[in-house]
Amino acid sequence: MAGNWKMNMTHLQAIAFVQKLAWTLKDADHDYEQVEVAVFPPFTALRSVQTLVDTDKLKLVYGGQDLSQHDSGAYTGDISGEFLAALGAKYALVGHSERRTIHGEDDAVCQAKVQAALKHGLVPVLCVGETLEQREATDTPWDVPVAQLRAGLAELPNGAEIVLAYEPVWAIGTGKVATAEQAQEVCAALRAALVEELGEERAAATRILYGGSVKPDNVASIMREPDIDGALVGGASLKIDDFASIVRYRNHVGI
Ligand code: 13P
Repeated sequence: MAGNWKMNMTHLQAIAFVQKLAWTLKDADHDYEQVEVAVFPPFTALRSVQTLVDTDKLKLVYGGQDLSQHDSGAYTGDISGEFLAALGAKYALVGHSERRTIHGEDDAVCQAKVQAALKHGLVPVLCVGETLEQREATDTPWDVPVAQLRAGLAELPNGAEIVLAYEPVWAIGTGKVATAEQAQEVCAALRAALVEELGEERAAATRILYGGSVKPDNVASIMREPDIDGALVGGASLKIDDFASIVRYRNHVGI
């Protein structure tokens, strides 16, 4: 279960938040082996989160919301995978729809970022998803996400670990959650593409997250779907009780 904080929280707010989240999960006896908990703070909070996680020996993990496709040099404002790895980050988001749309990142850039993450020992979380316009223009709404997957994973080294996140753009921050059936339909197509790209075994072992208006009251139905292995949560990951409840979805009725 992953919380993408986007451009929210100073490093001081991040410390208070992670501390309270860890207490809440400890009180609830959360089993991190069963459900991994990851947060994606802004870059400016990563060092503080690292210090807290190391000092208090917290089991939650963290990552960057983006990384540069370059290693170092004249790229003002960018952050290298090397810097993230040096801060103990485990993951890096790649190709979030806000990066693709606002920052014009295309599939080639995303592919280079996947490679850069792997080069520096990070697990890339490749985000894919269609816009409303793209969904409405076709009877096969998985076409765009599958094409983004194939492009992003081109020339993936043998044995490289990756995570996929299916985030329909029309469901992000809109309160419009995809129905569990809609999410499963696309995630099943993504899994089938993974089988073709990586083979049966690696495809089965690759986690596919769903993202888009995930909340405590809809996470259980989403997680019941066979090809959805976790959630990438935006807004609700900024509220401790909501995020803790999402993390503990197994305790919800019927799971
Ligand atoms: P919301 O949960 O706020 O819809 O955001 C989803 C998202 O973009 C996570 O990366």
